Amino acid sequence: MSKRLIRDALNIPSSEITSESVYKQRRRLMQAALSAAVLPAFAFPSFARAAGYEIPDDLPRYPGPVWLRQKLASAVRNAELSVSDELAPYYHAITHNNFYEFGTDKRDPVRYAQKFKTDPWKVEISGEVAKPGNYNLEDILAPHALEDRVYRLRCVEAWSMVIPWLGFPLAELIKRFEPTSKAKYVQFTTILDKEQMSEQRSSFGTIDWPYVEGLRMDEAMNPLTLMAVGMYGNALPPQNGAPLRLVVPWKYGFKSIKSIVRIHFSETMPETSWNITAPKEYGFYANVNPAVDHPRWSQATERRLPSSLLSPNIVDTLPFNGYADQVAHLYKGMDLSKWF
Ligand code: MTE
Repeated sequence: MSKRLIRDALNIPSSEITSESVYKQRRRLMQAALSAAVLPAFAFPSFARAAGYEIPDDLPRYPGPVWLRQKLASAVRNAELSVSDELAPYYHAITHNNFYEFGTDKRDPVRYAQKFKTDPWKVEISGEVAKPGNYNLEDILAPHALEDRVYRLRCVEAWSMVIPWLGFPLAELIKRFEPTSKAKYVQFTTILDKEQMSEQRSSFGTIDWPYVEGLRMDEAMNPLTLMAVGMYGNALPPQNGAPLRLVVPWKYGFKSIKSIVRIHFSETMPETSWNITAPKEYGFYANVNPAVDHPRWSQATERRLPSSLLSPNIVDTLPFNGYADQVAHLYKGMDLSKWF
């Protein structure tokens, strides 16, 4: 079958067709998604169409539970905090993932996370707060209006994507639970579920599960710091960290922890997974910084996805991933080569 015929059959723009193997991958992806009861495009109206996000009909989308769908549909674009860079095609955002709980290959999360149960979901709020507790996700989200924000995501591995998230500022959530004056840091924890997450069962893994991350309180309160529940106008796909993940666009992607079940406030700096694993390579701060190389590779440039051998699409990495105006003041006087 020629590429043209495939394109016409699937109604996919030529820019997204690369080879017959991509076509086959898409078919497999769609089959996996459908067997996991993910709805096809025509099954529901969503914010995606209103916002003009292109989601080819042959790719799965993730509507989420009914209560979330209603919330997602009423999201509003935050143009002020969105970048105008070209979006990553949806296909790349849902098939090129780091979610080590499901495997270390970029394709493992889309292959193995489709049946991951994300509803019902509880989030524990603990530590230095006036209102600790174990809350249903629906109650956590109830008072928050959702915003659509287009952010750059820069992985420490030197690739990047531009993604439209749906979420709300972490600062608003933090204020609701009333941190005490001792709360200087926030730690986030991903679900520990060996039955569903194959890599958590492995005795040879690199990470000491569950995955944990953390922010200084002023970083957590910065208006850019987002709790995301959706992307491209729909609920988060499981491989992207459903049902609730953090997005901190000026830091390397590993800070943006997925599938969060605990938010803990503490007086001391919390442990973070990659810092425990390789402290010389990954610091607590992990601010995107082209001037400070990773010990094994340069951080001066990045491969902006989609990228291929013939068209690698290499762009300069910007300090704080281009968000210096909003966040550089948080690190005034700090030596960022020491606090990497
Ligand atoms: N969160 C958990 N729980 N486990 C992970 O392996 N990988 C991180 C981050 N959050 C990771 C995680 C890394 S290294 C990156 S670059 C981003 O997720 C990737 O997000 P994406 O797959 O949605 O692009």
